[in-house]
Amino acid sequence: MRPLPVDNEKLHLIYLKPMPYICPICQTPLRQQLSTRSYQCSNDHHFDIAKEGYINLLPAQYKKSKEPGDSKEMMRARRNFLEAGFYQPLAQAISNIIDQHLADIPKPRILDMGCGEGYYSRQIEVLTQHNKLDLHGLDIAKNAILAAAKKQATAQFIVASSERMPYSDNFFNLLLRIYAPSNNSEIKRLLKTNGYLLTVTPGPRHLWQLKELIYQDTKEHDTQAPLPENFTTLTNQRVSDIIIPNQDQRMDLLQMTPFAWRATKQMTHAIQQAQDLEIEIDFILTLAVKS
Ligand SMILES: C[S@@+](CC[C@H](N)C(=O)[O-])C[C@H]1O[C@@H](n2cnc3c(N)ncnc32)[C@H](O)[C@@H]1O
Ligand SMILES: [Zn+2]
Repeated sequence: MRPLPVDNEKLHLIYLKPMPYICPICQTPLRQQLSTRSYQCSNDHHFDIAKEGYINLLPAQYKKSKEPGDSKEMMRARRNFLEAGFYQPLAQAISNIIDQHLADIPKPRILDMGCGEGYYSRQIEVLTQHNKLDLHGLDIAKNAILAAAKKQATAQFIVASSERMPYSDNFFNLLLRIYAPSNNSEIKRLLKTNGYLLTVTPGPRHLWQLKELIYQDTKEHDTQAPLPENFTTLTNQRVSDIIIPNQDQRMDLLQMTPFAWRATKQMTHAIQQAQDLEIEIDFILTLAVKS
């Protein structure tokens, strides 16, 4: 009897555990290939694991610009500001929600969509009572993901667009959407049934004193993010505080907000020079469940 043909290529593949990713080009599962530190699909598309541990799953044909996502300057400003701890009450509230709702799941999978440099992912790891979270982060900005992966080797980061998130169906227990763009049908596809979507949006008083120095007529806006179909809101929580950033931190804060575009030189100067400016922060956390 003739021996069965041996596929040498396949012999080199060492399959570890079920992998979360699908190929961004042909949507078949991606398997990790240890010998070359890469991922590969059955149609031979390859994606290298960077030395910092992240994977770039954003093929050039889906890139709308050379460096999509937030600019380096915006990322630097956000990093300085967040790492000074001003939004820590928000990180704590997110961690509390995780503890309340995922306590019974042995290793819940959580994805931070549009994670930037991964500030919330690192904070959650520190603040949660749950000691076995499987943390993932995705952002379209490669520099942000590179920094996030360097800082948190215990989490898994990928460069990808939230328009097409290259993960398997029903993979996650919770998706985090913090000031980030998202795609409702992708959210639905990625979440398990009874999985949670936690959305953070600015509350009506968010950065009120900063806005007063920019807009002539400051209005309270309530910006609830629309939910995907078949999602039901479980809780709405408001987290508010007062912060007193110094001059440099105020400039960072301005740079990471959309109203930086509206601020003239004089307004920017006034924000920088104001004495001990107290600024309200105000967030709405909407927890919804997929049925
Ligand atoms: C306002 S920032 C919020 C970052 C982080 N969630 C936070 O709250 O600090 C928006 C983030 O979304 C990313 N982003 C923009 N478009 C995206 C897309 N289509 N897919 C994934 N991320 C995107 C940006 O690069 C940026 O990091
Ligand atoms: Zn493929």
